[in-house]
Amino acid sequence: MTTLNLADGDPATAAVDAVVVGVYDDGDGAPVLAPGAEAVSAALNGGLVDALTRLGATGSAGEVTKLATFGAIKAPVLVAVGLGTKGDGATGDGATGDGATGDGATGDEVPAETLRRAAGAATRALAGSDRIVLALPGSLRAVAEGALLGAYRFAGYRTRPQAGRRDAVRTVSVVDAEGSPARTARAELKRATTVTQAVAQARDWINTAPNELRPPSFADAIAAVAGKAGLDVEVLDEKALKKGGYGGILAVGQGSAAPPRFVRLAYTARGAKTRLALVGKGITFDTGGVSIKPAANMWEMKSDMSGAAAVAAATLALAALGPKVNVTAYIPIAENMPSGTSYRPGDVVTMRDGTRVEVLNTDAEGRMVLADAMSRAIEDGTDYLLETSTLTGGQVIALGKRVSGLMGTEEFCNRVRDIGARVGEPAWPMPMPDDVRKGMDSEVADISQVNAGMDRAGHMLQGGVFLSHFMPDDLPWAHLDIAGPAYNAGEPTGYLPKGGTGVPVRTLIELAEDIAADG
Ligand code: BES
Ligand code: ZN
Ligand code: MN
Repeated sequence: MTTLNLADGDPATAAVDAVVVGVYDDGDGAPVLAPGAEAVSAALNGGLVDALTRLGATGSAGEVTKLATFGAIKAPVLVAVGLGTKGDGATGDGATGDGATGDGATGDEVPAETLRRAAGAATRALAGSDRIVLALPGSLRAVAEGALLGAYRFAGYRTRPQAGRRDAVRTVSVVDAEGSPARTARAELKRATTVTQAVAQARDWINTAPNELRPPSFADAIAAVAGKAGLDVEVLDEKALKKGGYGGILAVGQGSAAPPRFVRLAYTARGAKTRLALVGKGITFDTGGVSIKPAANMWEMKSDMSGAAAVAAATLALAALGPKVNVTAYIPIAENMPSGTSYRPGDVVTMRDGTRVEVLNTDAEGRMVLADAMSRAIEDGTDYLLETSTLTGGQVIALGKRVSGLMGTEEFCNRVRDIGARVGEPAWPMPMPDDVRKGMDSEVADISQVNAGMDRAGHMLQGGVFLSHFMPDDLPWAHLDIAGPAYNAGEPTGYLPKGGTGVPVRTLIELAEDIAADG
């Protein structure tokens, strides 16, 4: 694990493995030094821009240029990381352009997401180092978060060391370009450590092989860390689920030899009145069940518990951060398998709230387990409900790999969208049209689980519309479909590694803090 601290003194004389500075693109593809690079540049007799130009650096966002310093500064390696064109992308909402513009920064400020990505890219490029210093301009929080997120490594399962594999950077020191009082700066670093550890926890769970993380062991793993963090923990096993009438969770879980679970975590803040419920989909592996998925890339469905991982990890972080709001996590966990005991298309399932659902496709299992968990949250009582899940392939088709789909009540969705834009986890609002709801009328039961004609039109919307059936009219709620953003099957980029990304852990944390501050 990577340690974070505040850099003291001049980066040019720091006894570290590498110093990271920022460079802008001057607008014509030529590098310009960003604030923070002055001391290092002076030590290099002003030759830094010339060297960078000769090496082909342009200052474009996320570009990493490594230079040997040959004793000109104390560190043997200098990294110049691109911050893009100055003042660029200063508006927008995080789901337009490259998504790096969500913080509403104006003028000369570097957008927070640009900084996070740059710090992440630099730290990733310096894996294997013992100690590095980051001297970047702008928000200390953004630089610290990006660096730690980029430093993440999944331990993996190799029995022998992999040639060329470099460990996470051991210590990251960050220069506070904002010049805050040391106490304020240290508090920011402490927060960044807590938040990024939660993201790392979620990523670890997602990256864990699905044979190692089946419903009972996932529930136990969550309960163990939550207990240590001082959260109230309730775990329902298959017997308790039966007794409690959790028909949706049981139906999905009944095809697997590893029985389903339901985990409830409660963080209670002293003097808090407002309650936030977080619900996360925890399918430890999604084969599709009897309506089986094609073999290609099916292994990626080990990430179908990303919502659960995010909700659990965010709640852990909140216990450490202590905002004045009561947060309860509701985590339904099951493995969706085809077998002689599986639920089947045509089944009618009685859900926790009494609704009868006609199953038409066992691969639409997420909404079955989520509806039960949401019903439980409503029974317990809450002021806001946010549910997040890798729910539909339709989300990926419509919005791609970086922008989540957002459905629910308008005002609350806008709030979640604003926060997502601010933290670099963009989400885009989607409608829940009447015709899609009508398409889910069942011949025999209260509602079909998917469109009765198996029509994939408005695929992502069907998920939100189904869940809305279980929501009371007066409850602000949001459904965040993270099918694409939860898992990066492509190459690492910015602070995102390959594999689990930890989206939307940071949105959930900031949402709770926002509610604590404003109600
Ligand atoms: N877990 C999948 C959705 C998914 C797809 C997540 C791709 C991540 C990447 C979900 O359970 C599922 O199978 N959804 C079906 C729904 C359909 C049967 C109505 C889908 O997307 O095809
Ligand atoms: Zn699924
Ligand atoms: Mn499925």
